[in-house]
Amino acid sequence: TYVVTDNCIKCKYMDCIEVCPVDCFYEGENMLVIHPDECIDCGVCEPECPADAIKPDTEPGLEKWLQVNTEYAEKWPNITAKKEPPADAKTFDGEAGKFEKYFS
Ligand code: F3S
Repeated sequence: TYVVTDNCIKCKYMDCIEVCPVDCFYEGENMLVIHPDECIDCGVCEPECPADAIKPDTEPGLEKWLQVNTEYAEKWPNITAKKEPPADAKTFDGEAGKFEKYFS
């Protein structure tokens, strides 16, 4: 599966939604997550993210993000159409430790 990671938080560009063939993105206030059981591993979303926030969970160190994606895909609503990204998305791009500061 692919997972959405820290840099999505408060960037939330949503370009990933448009290309997903199985509509497996779920929306929180500040970020999206992927439902690991629905993701078919096609990989088309990974290069679409301007914040480079989508990674295959085969990369080392992503256990926490697999857990976050799994947990919140069950709690948050499905999102299948792109909306307007936050106006200040660019200011948060690349900021460290966004999960601890802003996750919701
Ligand atoms: Fe987030 Fe990137 Fe999608 S910032 S909403 S994973 S395009």
